[in-house]
Amino acid sequence: MTKKPWVKVRAHSFILRSMKKVLVTGGAGYIGSHTVIELLNHGYIPVIVDDFSNSDKRVLKGLEEILGFAPSLYRCDCTDKAVLKKVFEAEMPDAVIHFAAFKAVGESTEQPVRYYRNNIDSLLCVLELMQEFNVCELVFSSSCTVYGQPETLPVHEKCEQKPATSPYGYTKQVCERILTDATTANPTLRCALLRYFNPIGAHPSGLIGELPYGVPNNLVPYITQTAAGIREKLIIHGNDYATPDGTCIRDYIHVCDLANAHVKALEWLDTKVSACEAFNLGQGMGNSVKEVVDTFVRVNATPVKVEIGPRRAGDVEQVWADASKASSLLQWKTERSLAESLKDAWKWQKQLSIG
Ligand code: UD1
Repeated sequence: MTKKPWVKVRAHSFILRSMKKVLVTGGAGYIGSHTVIELLNHGYIPVIVDDFSNSDKRVLKGLEEILGFAPSLYRCDCTDKAVLKKVFEAEMPDAVIHFAAFKAVGESTEQPVRYYRNNIDSLLCVLELMQEFNVCELVFSSSCTVYGQPETLPVHEKCEQKPATSPYGYTKQVCERILTDATTANPTLRCALLRYFNPIGAHPSGLIGELPYGVPNNLVPYITQTAAGIREKLIIHGNDYATPDGTCIRDYIHVCDLANAHVKALEWLDTKVSACEAFNLGQGMGNSVKEVVDTFVRVNATPVKVEIGPRRAGDVEQVWADASKASSLLQWKTERSLAESLKDAWKWQKQLSIG
């Protein structure tokens, strides 16, 4: 790949012109790459836009192996509007799925300005270009982090949002607000705000999955790396919470189920004249950190060395989704269990260790 700021890496003009073209910013990332597969499985033409700041070429290789060809791809930073404009001009997309953002909670507290600049600027560039090129459908990658620690569980989309506990969380709240205001001002713009709970797992082929740079922040990559011998032990961040086993509770969702929700959201947006709706995407149930570790050990018959450590700053005690809105409006539901997610995560980790 050359070092030009904008480069079309490859294209597939053989694909039927009548199919709907979807620009997938951050399409080489964890959730983005799985969504690219789901889009193709449902007759869409995905065009990946990624700056590779937090994605890996190995994911592209895996995508190519799964699909049998390499999807269209542009190396581009979405905060560079002039460059992104060239992609819009070249592709004339029908819709956008906007994943491209920084996502590490801890890092965001150390580098807030970088997070605000990247996450908010990239959305503004995408929105301005959508307006300029008359693209009316946007699926936005949001997070359950917008709720903070909710007072009632499961958390519903209408729950009052607490102040964000991190700059990362605040960027998601602000971006949702920007999209709400933008659709109010311009009702032809239609948006689905997808609030992810905790995406885990990998494609069942084991060819693509989560590839954190450096020491993972998130639980499941930390477990798989510990099981693979890359990390010495997993530290459980606190076992003195007011939960049945004392460890935090989250709603873990298989990344392929999550990817499928993006296709459902696009289908739903197609039926709307105007829309800006938020959807919780989770299993609708919580599992504790200990349950996740125990399930991993059981289904993969692989030991994981564990130590109890202090609480992690900024962690909410427990949160899980009321996902009934996504079920009724998007006709979406999860199909894969925690056990399946952890089997797939381990398959991916083993494949990485071999590769
Ligand atoms: C958080 C955000 C989520 C965001 C994600 C991105 C909230 C509620 N959730 O997820 O929106 O998309 O970060 O990174 O703000 N744990 C350990 N040991 C470890 C790692 C994690 O015990 O080594 C525990 C954590 O304390 C937590 C659970 O595992 O209780 C899940 O942690 P993690 O995978 O980091 O996700 P969240 O913090 O829930």
